[in-house]
This record gives sequence, C-alpha cells and structure tokens, in this order.
Amino acid sequence: MITLGIEGTAHTLGVGIVDSDGKIMSNVIDMYRPPQGGLHPREAANHHAEVVAGDIGKALEEAGISIHDVDLVSFSMGPGLGPCLRVAGTAARSLALSLGVPIVGVNHCIAHIEIGNATTGCSDPVLLYASGGNTQVIAYSDRRYRIFGETQDVGIGNMLDKLGRELGLGFYAGPAIEKLAKDGDRLLDLPYSVKGMDISFSGILTAAESYRDRGCRIEDICYSVQETAFAMLTEVTERAMAHVGKSEVLLGGGVAQNGRLREMLSEMAKERGGKMFVPERNLCRDNGAMIAWLGNLMYGSGVRMEIADTEVRQRFRTDEVPVTWRD
Ligand code: ATP
Ligand code: FE2
Repeated sequence: MITLGIEGTAHTLGVGIVDSDGKIMSNVIDMYRPPQGGLHPREAANHHAEVVAGDIGKALEEAGISIHDVDLVSFSMGPGLGPCLRVAGTAARSLALSLGVPIVGVNHCIAHIEIGNATTGCSDPVLLYASGGNTQVIAYSDRRYRIFGETQDVGIGNMLDKLGRELGLGFYAGPAIEKLAKDGDRLLDLPYSVKGMDISFSGILTAAESYRDRGCRIEDICYSVQETAFAMLTEVTERAMAHVGKSEVLLGGGVAQNGRLREMLSEMAKERGGKMFVPERNLCRDNGAMIAWLGNLMYGSGVRMEIADTEVRQRFRTDEVPVTWRD
C-alpha cells in the first residue's frame, strides 16, 4: 500500500510518500520564510496554497510513481495554525476524492513520535518533542501517548525564534543561536522554571532581552539561554523516564537538530543505562513522510474516516488519539 501524506501545520508544506513496509519513497519539504519579522499564519497559508500542487507532483516524481498508484491520502489534522491546516486539509480531501481513495487525518505530534519509532531502532522510548510551537514530554502507556510534562507558555523553538528576532538573527533562529552559543563562555543567570513536570520559557526570554539591553555579549546570551532551557528539558525528560521506568529517549521536532540538546540528553540517557535516539534531519523537521507513515499505521489498524470527520483541529492534543496500531 502506498500512502501520500501532506503536512501543513505551520511554516512548512511537506509532501511525503511511504509504502507499508516503512520505506520512505519521497519527502518534499517546502518551508515558508517570511521576508521579515515573524510568521503570519495567513501568509504561510498562501504560500502553502501556491506550492502544494507542485510539491505533490515533485513527490510523485521522486518516488517514481504515478498519482494513480496512491492508495491512501493522509494529512496533518492538527495541532497548528488554522489557515495552514485548512490548506493541507483541502488539498488532501480533493486529492482523495478525485482519486477515489480513503483519507486519514492524523495528529502531527504523534507523527513525530512514530517516524522516530520506525526509523531509529528505538523500542519504547520517552519522547521529547521540542519544536517551534510544541514542547512536550510524551510516553506511551495504556493505549495512549500521554503527556507527562509540557511548556506552560511558548514552545522552545518559538522562544528561540523570538530571541533571534530581538538579537537581529532573522526568522528560524535556532541554528544561528546554536552557532553563536559555541563562542559563549559566561553563564548568565536566567530563570530556571520547572514546576512539577511543567516548564516555562517566557521568563528566560525577558531576562535574555534585558541582558542584551545592558550590552552583554550576544554569544554569552545564546550560550546561557541554551544551557538553561535545555537543562530544564533534560530534567523533566529524566523524571518522566524514571516515573514510567523507560531507559530510551527519542528526540523529535525541529529543535532536536540542536547538537547541544542532543549531547545533554544523550549523557543523561547513558547515565541511566539507556540511549538517546534521533531521526535524521528531514524527519525531525515538519515533513510529509511522517504524516504519510502515521496515516499508513492508522489505516492498517482499521481506522477509517469520512470526509466529514476530517475537519482540522487547531488544538488537537496528543493524548486524545486512541493508539490502535500498537499493543
Ligand atoms: P510544530 O508545528 O511541530 O510546532 P514547527 O512548526 O515549529 O513545529 P519544526 O520544523 O518542527 O516546525 O521546528 C522548527 C523550529 O526548530 C524553529 O523554531 C527553529 O528555530 C528550530 N530549530 C531548527 N534548527 C535548530 C537548531 N539547530 N537549534 C535549535 N533550534 C532549532
Ligand atoms: Fe512539528
């Protein structure tokens, strides 16, 4: 069975094609970069609407198949930005209807988990999902992916992007901050905010901005923000692992591309006698292959959806989905 998946929760429009053995046949990633400032949902949605048809064509071409070889269409039903979700949803519905094939709407966060499970060789990890809009510590238990801890305000990536904007680093600032942090050596005092299993980042952002106003070195600010925020993530991930008795940790989301975050989690997992896993770069970012793969798993386990069931859900929570494809 061949599944074509369309991702469109935020800045990225992605089209991926997988088969039911988990082979990724293609994974076209088309990211919208705002000319200046932050991401406007409407503008990103316009971008997605412009490129989606062409990207479907590219994905088919890369996979070396015809559109009539597609057996199932899946798409990111949420969580995400309404206008972007609706573009992906509309494209998926029209494609499924015109081909006369079934459609499955999937939870974007769970797609990050399952592509990691499928491609990294981990077996039963705690997932740290660290992206722009989401920051959650998730583990499977009793037929659900349960959220053990999460951010109480912004996602870690959004915090980094906001900081980047303040520091004049442009949009999608994670990689630039990582680079600058390597030249930082002074650990500035920033609010370390862990409450129970939850964390919050807005205090770090405010404090970092005030250091900038006082003329601190930008390298030291980036270094300190990374050290503090990643230590918070590592702490709650470790506690979730202890709580559920798991020794593997899987990273997902765009921020999982950060080398320092990987290093900290990897050390922690090793100390606990376990291991850290991280999917390859294009499977960490928002992408269509992970959406296709989760669609394939859901459909294979008997999930069926009518077009009327595929309305997008901006606040679609990870723990709302019954996990029918695992035992
Ligand atoms: P979601 O819709 O799941 O919230 P997203 O729309 O934020 O995801 P992703 O591609 O998963 O999309 O993540 C993008 C985020 O990852 C951005 O905030 C970006 O700054 C951050 N990022 C990318 N590379 C790095 C890096 N090397 N270090 C830190 N952050 C990074
Ligand atoms: Fe994501």
